[in-house]
Amino acid sequence: MRSRGGGGVGWLVIAAALAVAAAGGRVGAQWATQRDGPVQPVAYSHKVHAGDNQIPCLFCHAEARRSPQAGIPSLQRCVGCHQITAAGRPEVKKVLQAWATKTPIAWVRVHDLPDFVYFSHAPHVRAEVTCQTCHGPVETMERVRQVATLKMGWCLECHRRPRVTTVRQATASPQASAGPQATTEPQAPTDCLACHK
Ligand code: HEC
Ligand code: HEC
Ligand code: HEC
Ligand code: HEC
Ligand code: HEC
Repeated sequence: MRSRGGGGVGWLVIAAALAVAAAGGRVGAQWATQRDGPVQPVAYSHKVHAGDNQIPCLFCHAEARRSPQAGIPSLQRCVGCHQITAAGRPEVKKVLQAWATKTPIAWVRVHDLPDFVYFSHAPHVRAEVTCQTCHGPVETMERVRQVATLKMGWCLECHRRPRVTTVRQATASPQASAGPQATTEPQAPTDCLACHK
């Protein structure tokens, strides 16, 4: 809407989005109302790994720091531990077998935004929004499930919150020293084209 050209493209995308939304049928959304996420080809547990054994989220989802996608770890990452750890257990044997035959595990997707939405992990990780803010207490889950609605209103509710900045005062006054200050500007973009490119 700011420039005729750019706005036009944006509205085309949004019109297409409406058509897609009207057609319905989103993969992933069905899990939002279930207590457990989908059954996976290997009984991998976040509770065991990220909870009991406190393996950091970013150890396996390292791409989240720099990419739109958080990424699913490669088999190599699993085998790094499981060549030895619990190597005799049936579910771990599946992993070692897949590695030996170079067959990737077909993990079932849990979260899936419609294609007309642009989302990227990197700016959120940089802004120190924790994984749990959007995904819930994954470290307690045997099977990952979708916790947030991932609806537009959910994204916007957070984006509209006022930005909090740490203001460094030039004065030496102790009361007015550095501290968090709420501003009136939103903390993240709310214009349509930020999320509908
Ligand atoms: C040891 C590796 C490992 C660690 C550590 C790990 N994950 Fe995962 N994560 C996986 C694997 C493998 C999958 C795919 C299977 C599944 O969905 O359970 C996955 C899937 C997910 C998904 C669902 C992806 C989708 O399909 O939408 C989310 C969300 C997630 N992880 C978040 C986290 C968070 C948050 C943490 C830290 C609390 C974490 N993970 C720690 C390996 C790991
Ligand atoms: C940093 C080391 C580490 C990595 C990386 C790792 N695991 Fe594990 N995993 C463990 C530990 C520790 C246990 C718990 C073993 C125990 O119960 O004694 C475990 C347990 C398991 C079990 C359950 C075994 C059972 O039946 O009790 C499965 C299945 C499994 N891991 C799969 C995976 C998969 C798939 C990946 C890669 C996405 C992976 N692990 C990555 C350390 C790791
Ligand atoms: C601001 C909310 C938000 C935060 C913070 C966030 N995620 Fe996500 N995550 C999402 C959304 C939305 C999707 C679905 C993206 C899509 O379908 O395109 C997703 C998808 C995923 C996926 C599966 C697909 C992929 O991107 O590879 C994994 C794994 C994941 N997130 C892990 C994490 C981890 C680990 C962290 C913390 C380092 C994290 N997320 C932080 C919102 C978030
Ligand atoms: C809990 C708060 C929160 C939620 C929920 C959230 N975001 Fe964000 N988003 C942020 C913050 C904070 C930033 C970083 C703003 C900055 O660095 O200026 C951001 C940045 C972004 C950016 C990058 C904008 C730019 O210009 O760099 C996009 C795109 C985005 N978010 C899309 C989404 C979408 C789509 C959803 C919902 C699926 C979502 N966000 C949910 C807090 C959130
Ligand atoms: C912070 C990210 C974000 C911003 C900003 C945003 N949207 Fe969305 N929008 C989404 C997400 C996520 C969805 C998909 C989930 C849903 O349908 O709510 C969506 C879905 C839609 C749909 C599909 C209809 C529907 O209800 O499913 C339309 C149309 C739309 N947005 C228009 C807009 C317009 C117009 C603006 C600007 C006023 C805008 N969006 C700004 C994230 C955003």
